[in-house]
Amino acid sequence: MTHHHRSAPAGVAHRATAGYQTVYGGPPAGRWAAPGRVNLIGEHTDYNDGFVLPFALPLRTVAAAGPQSGDRWTVWSELTGETVAFGADEVAAPGRVTGWAAYVAGVVWALREAGHVVPGARLAVASDVPLGAGLSSSAALEAAVLTALVDLGGLDLPAQHQPRLAQRAENHYVGAPTGIMDQSAAIRCRAGHALFLDCRTEQVEHIPFDLDPAGLAVLVVDSHAPHRHADGEYAARRATCEKAAALLGVPALRDVPAAGLDDALARLPDDETRRRVRHVVTENQRVLDTVALLRTGQARHIGPLLTASHASMRDDFAITVPEVDTAVEAALAAGALGARMTGGGFGGCVLALVETDRADMVATAVTAAYGERGYTAPTLTTVTPAPGAASLA
Ligand code: GLA
Repeated sequence: MTHHHRSAPAGVAHRATAGYQTVYGGPPAGRWAAPGRVNLIGEHTDYNDGFVLPFALPLRTVAAAGPQSGDRWTVWSELTGETVAFGADEVAAPGRVTGWAAYVAGVVWALREAGHVVPGARLAVASDVPLGAGLSSSAALEAAVLTALVDLGGLDLPAQHQPRLAQRAENHYVGAPTGIMDQSAAIRCRAGHALFLDCRTEQVEHIPFDLDPAGLAVLVVDSHAPHRHADGEYAARRATCEKAAALLGVPALRDVPAAGLDDALARLPDDETRRRVRHVVTENQRVLDTVALLRTGQARHIGPLLTASHASMRDDFAITVPEVDTAVEAALAAGALGARMTGGGFGGCVLALVETDRADMVATAVTAAYGERGYTAPTLTTVTPAPGAASLA
């Protein structure tokens, strides 16, 4: 019998460092890691000044970085094998740097816009966060690069101000009208906790979310459903919400309390707008209810809130697709305590709250349901809350 020796795949920090060495011919000055995230609950509430409750994943993006003279930035990506270089002119013109490197140029742009003197830098980036799965690989990249540049340049930018800056990079340089949740999660999350974020004030509370002692686990199902029209639909949802807030005479839908929902709905002109508003208002309340349960050690009882969130995204906000609906239904039928799509929608991941000893059964049931419908097999993992962005020793 032949013994096949398979070495473990090199860790992401090692891969970024090795890439740096190869591309630039010397060691980096340091390495900075930032995680992807799942959102436990609170979807499409962030850009309505509302509440979200994400936690960081153990999957991370690492930027190995070192100085470069002048206003020059060079970045290599393990994923594409490309090296992209740009200077102050390209940074000053949003849209000049495109593709994945736009997130890097965008961070430099946003720092300079905010008046920081950004050091020229060489970067090498590797990541374990899957792209296009709704786990915020873009925010992880922004946060890894941002923390690297802040440390390399000794910039005065405390962590609590970093998410807004990274969001500006994405909104204005990359051109995606996203809210502040993903960047906040990548930067401000703590291990063992979910991040309760008020997206208006940016106040946070770290909510203990250590499920293991309670005999619970969170199962993440990557549906592998292609993101269909996600960008255009996201922008359309955001525009509808902002228009509705204007019609209601409030700064944002956050200002419509759950108790005032019926009155607000009666003042809106059409069924579609009413549904969108109902999702946002009820979803904010579900975040608050989830936080109240977690604060009092009742994680087991948040399941129905997760499932109600999914129904609201499916029926009122209209952002789910058959693959994610199937994962939720199959998980619930196999005994999950609650399940919902997580992230912006139109594909991506589903999370299910399960009793630890049922996790395998639920995973098998979801896979079987995908097989019956002829969908690409999903990827399933159990996850625990990891820390936010940090410099690595
Ligand atoms: C994407 C955006 C976030 C948020 C979610 C939906 O992940 O980047 O800002 O709006 O969708 O909750």
